[in-house]
Amino acid sequence: MSDNLNSGLDSTATFSIDGRRVPFEAGQTILQAALAAGVYIPHLCNHPDLKPHGSCKMCTVIVNGRNGSACTARAMPGLEVENDTPALNDRRRVLLQMLFVEGNHFCPGCEKSGNCQLQALAYDLEMLAPHFRHAFPARVVDASHPDIWLDLNRCIMCELCVRASRDLDGKSVFMLAGRGTNSRVVVNSPSGLLKDSALTIDDRAAHICPVGAILPKRVGYAVPIGERQFDQATIGHQVDYLAKRTIPIRPVAAETAAATEGN
Ligand code: SF4
Ligand code: FES
Repeated sequence: MSDNLNSGLDSTATFSIDGRRVPFEAGQTILQAALAAGVYIPHLCNHPDLKPHGSCKMCTVIVNGRNGSACTARAMPGLEVENDTPALNDRRRVLLQMLFVEGNHFCPGCEKSGNCQLQALAYDLEMLAPHFRHAFPARVVDASHPDIWLDLNRCIMCELCVRASRDLDGKSVFMLAGRGTNSRVVVNSPSGLLKDSALTIDDRAAHICPVGAILPKRVGYAVPIGERQFDQATIGHQVDYLAKRTIPIRPVAAETAAATEGN
């Protein structure tokens, strides 16, 4: 959709989400406007520093009676958006259940527990059981890099690492390979191992994973369980935190990046 369609909007342009008026600026997506206004729409593959991807479908809302991805649909005056409804949250729970069973997620033993967006969404949407049969796939664990773990058992295929490495770091360390259920993240290096790739601890790609698939080493428990991001408030009550992240972020030092991405 052309930006021109939104040009000339005055500062009072609004649309509604679940009956609440939400202001927006020209060019914003429904998700961006919602988060800026303090309205949480569940999402996993979206990041404010990257172009919308539209792949996880967690942000699906009803826009004027039709399904649409809030991360890709442009905010327009007068739109009527349904978001926090029993039917939409049922669908989101099913998506979560499928993500949990198609990987190997063992939250109690995961260093990312409490900072993991998949786990946090499952709590927020009150997912009580996996419902589907676990696939227990054989996935790669690569501990070869001196500073970064890669555990694809936890990967949800959001491609944030792929996009961050390509678009923010200019390296393309991660890529997708395979099709359908055989799709997987692979490392772009002569050996296929992380240690032989161009990835460094200061890369955005090293810190952007919303789950525990890519983690900096030696800091897994620097913040104790019970004091982590989603231990403090559910993901649905963190829109202020998320809204702050819409500010453009420059490449940052490893310590700052870890805090920014919630590792
Ligand atoms: S490794 Fe993490 S960031 Fe990369 S695709 Fe998997 S879940 Fe997403
Ligand atoms: S956040 Fe919109 S499709 Fe993933």
